[in-house]
Amino acid sequence: MARKIILDCDPGHDDAVAILLAAGSPEIDLLGITTVGGNQTLGKVTFNARQVMTIAGLTDVPLHAGCTRPLVRPMEVAADVHGDSGMEIHGFDLPDPAVEVAPGHAVDYIIDTVMAHEPGEVTLVPTGPLTNIALAVRKEPRIAERVREVVLMGGGYHEGNKTATAEFNISVDPEAAHIVFHEPWPLVMVGLDLTHQALATREVEARFAALGTRAGDFVVGLCGFFREAYRQAQGFDDPPVHDPCTVAYLIDPSVVSTVRAPLDVELRGGLTTGMTVADFRAPAPPGCTTSVAVKLDHGRFWDLVVGAVEGLV
Ligand code: BDR
Ligand code: CA
Repeated sequence: MARKIILDCDPGHDDAVAILLAAGSPEIDLLGITTVGGNQTLGKVTFNARQVMTIAGLTDVPLHAGCTRPLVRPMEVAADVHGDSGMEIHGFDLPDPAVEVAPGHAVDYIIDTVMAHEPGEVTLVPTGPLTNIALAVRKEPRIAERVREVVLMGGGYHEGNKTATAEFNISVDPEAAHIVFHEPWPLVMVGLDLTHQALATREVEARFAALGTRAGDFVVGLCGFFREAYRQAQGFDDPPVHDPCTVAYLIDPSVVSTVRAPLDVELRGGLTTGMTVADFRAPAPPGCTTSVAVKLDHGRFWDLVVGAVEGLV
């Protein structure tokens, strides 16, 4: 049975690859895509989602726009790694979108979809700030019992990227993250410790180029901009492609090893606001519903992504 997911994202180069991976994988039933202000403004990331969905052939999948800004704090975008549009690209002409934004707020779409399915059927996959997910569970608390699992890209237990200790998605809206981390649903945090292993090397890029398809060329164009941006902003030789690690975990959990551990989010630290804290001191207590991703099978991960993109026309 394919995993039913809602992808809540802010495309974003790596969000785009997550959409392609979900679209091209029979193990995933992509119920809908929702957007949230993050890498760029809500208007820009929603436009980008429409373009990615057009390339992926996702014309039957609903797209709903969500929150424009974090719950409490001012909006902050990541133009340093995603550019002015939020999805700047090298050497590829992005199409005019053939996908429209559906009426209705993303938060209501998430609630209605989860409540319309059986308990344990729908998995939420957030790859941007957690604003939509936090509001959804506050508006309709019953979704916390009904969602099968939340598998999110965000946080880390050793390092940050927005600050020395905080990862971008959590740092932008730590209050939302705090809400989401404290609900009783099973939650897997796919953080920087894992996603910094998901490097798009030159060899990986060459595999997409060799496909000779529009979707393959799209990924090559994304990697081109992302490599340069990550080199300048954070000193990486090859860019870490964070967000599709969540989808890969759902396709094949053996690609992403996880460890159960209590998790929390720092809201008040002078230097550590937005830091995620994983407690590894002892085996996780009974009833602990949170896990962190620790080890990526790099080869299998890229096999999954290349295979999915290959299947898209
Ligand atoms: C996360 O922040 C965004 O820039 C990426 O899309 C990813 O979701 C990495 O810190
Ligand atoms: Ca993202």
